[in-house]
Amino acid sequence: MDFRSPPAVIEALHRRVDHGVFGYADATPALRDTLCRWSEHHYGWQIDAAWQCWVPGVVPALHLAALAFSEPGEGVLTATPIYPPFLSVGRHTGREAQTFELAPPATPGGDWRLDLDAMEAAIRPNTRVLLWCHPHNPTGRVWDVDELRGLAELARRHALIVVSDELHCDLILDPERPHQPLGLLCPELAERLITLWAPSKTFNIAGLSAACR
Ligand SMILES: Cc1ncc(COP(=O)(O)O)c(C=O)c1O
Repeated sequence: MDFRSPPAVIEALHRRVDHGVFGYADATPALRDTLCRWSEHHYGWQIDAAWQCWVPGVVPALHLAALAFSEPGEGVLTATPIYPPFLSVGRHTGREAQTFELAPPATPGGDWRLDLDAMEAAIRPNTRVLLWCHPHNPTGRVWDVDELRGLAELARRHALIVVSDELHCDLILDPERPHQPLGLLCPELAERLITLWAPSKTFNIAGLSAACR
């Protein structure tokens, strides 16, 4: 967030401003196709343009998912610590906010880990939706394959809908740890997975309000 957007973004915005008409708009076929090509090129995941639903932001999409896939009073689970808006989704939507704790680093500077036992212990009969953050804000973790496969297995076993907020997926610093979308890694989750992406962190355009689920 400390850097100017890339020149191509600024040039495209100039062209858009010169157009001069700023009424209602919708995601164009070119935008949908661009996301398909981005996904294949950067993550090796072939996605379908018809899967995409463009929304004003990732946080709104977390709320929409809770509303769409649970009933009032049912549980929306998330792992703490977490980007704070995750914790308000339950209250804002009339759902029960449920949490479990990530395992803190065993040594100073070590990794936070997904504690699958803590996650399973937190799942109640009324839990319907898991709000997951991958890579994780605020710990910066890029989750390991075994953590993600374990999460997918628990979600399948307990019939949870998984909402994978992958907003920070283009900001990974270690070239040895490329982003692996949850949907690519665990295709068996397809029926119960919503992936949230946006260009906002990648290109520093959060104020333009666009995201895709
Ligand atoms: C993990 C995570 N999700 C969502 C957001 C906000 O997304 P949006 O502005 O698209 O609602 C942020 C912003 O920092 C974030 O860190």
